Amino acid sequence: MQGDRDILILAIETSCDETAAAVVKNGRQVLANIVSSQVDLHRKFGGVVPEIASRKHLEYINPVIEQALATAGVGWSELDAVAATYGPGLVGALLVGLSAAKALAYVLDKPFIGINHIVGHIYANFISHQGITSPVVCLTVSGGHTDLLFFEELGAYRILGSTRDDAAGEAFDKTARLLDIGYPGGPAIEKASKDGKATAINFPRPFLNDDTFDFSFSGLKTAVINYLHHKKQKGEGIIVADVAASFQQAVIDMLIAKILKAVQEFPVKSVILSGGVAANKTLKQQLAEKLARYSLPLYTPDLSLCTDNAAMIGSVAYYRYQQGRFSPLSLNARANLKLGEEVNDG
Ligand code: KG4
Ligand code: ZN
Repeated sequence: MQGDRDILILAIETSCDETAAAVVKNGRQVLANIVSSQVDLHRKFGGVVPEIASRKHLEYINPVIEQALATAGVGWSELDAVAATYGPGLVGALLVGLSAAKALAYVLDKPFIGINHIVGHIYANFISHQGITSPVVCLTVSGGHTDLLFFEELGAYRILGSTRDDAAGEAFDKTARLLDIGYPGGPAIEKASKDGKATAINFPRPFLNDDTFDFSFSGLKTAVINYLHHKKQKGEGIIVADVAASFQQAVIDMLIAKILKAVQEFPVKSVILSGGVAANKTLKQQLAEKLARYSLPLYTPDLSLCTDNAAMIGSVAYYRYQQGRFSPLSLNARANLKLGEEVNDG
């Protein structure tokens, strides 16, 4: 809100294979969240085909935007700003939503706000859980990144630490491949761990007690390779469940250690997890238990807002709107946009 006035933002998301538009009120109230998925279309190719994704976005984008406004019961003139994801993602796909948003902002004479998709996934939490109060510590862990963030207020974050090599999800995927238990690795390792002993093998935990908020997972992966190799050389079998459980525990210990370090150093009121690894129940359970000692709540995103959607983009855009941080209409799509880089793009 600005004064007593509600802020209505039309947000558009087309970074991969979902064509999505949403109308979000005051950053946390979703009036419409329309997602048109192309998943079935790409399934027969065994993955997203970028050229097909772009063409389908072009076909769907206008109807999806119109449906979002109709569902929200909001007219064009009532919008305060238009936002769109500009990275990371497939460049041809990003361009469709970005161009639509820029054209609308221009025609309606409203501010345009370009949003980093990864930040959107984090803000999905703020929509799911109205109870989240700042300051917030957030761990975002996926197959591509592992970052620990601090939000003094919901509108701005700083990166406390990141992985220096592999992402946590990547470590799960690589270890699952070594154990030959399937892809994606996270759910496979978690399942295999259920019958294993987490203390069976003492895998390394780099940076566990050092002075930084950084992570490292490549040494752990190497330790698993060495362990398997060693066992093979000696002609001994392995207990897959024990390796999986011991590996998983090492990752969890490293993630939790840095979150607790942040909780001790900053005046934190809430802790949130985002990204694919946040689905790990053992991580959530152990972290929640540790945080209870600090009387701190742990939030993870609702499943409905975990997959790509535009409501999360509209949430980030609201805080940007409040700060008066708009993007130029010259903003281009950035396929490899990293967390933190969006601050230089207005
Ligand atoms: O955020 P996400 O869906 O996609 C991107 O990487 O952008 O994250 C996928 C990652 C994969 O590496 C997958 O193995 C991991 O999240 N993951 C898990 C679990 N479910 C998914 N890792 C650990 N435990 C899980 N239950
Ligand atoms: Zn996504």
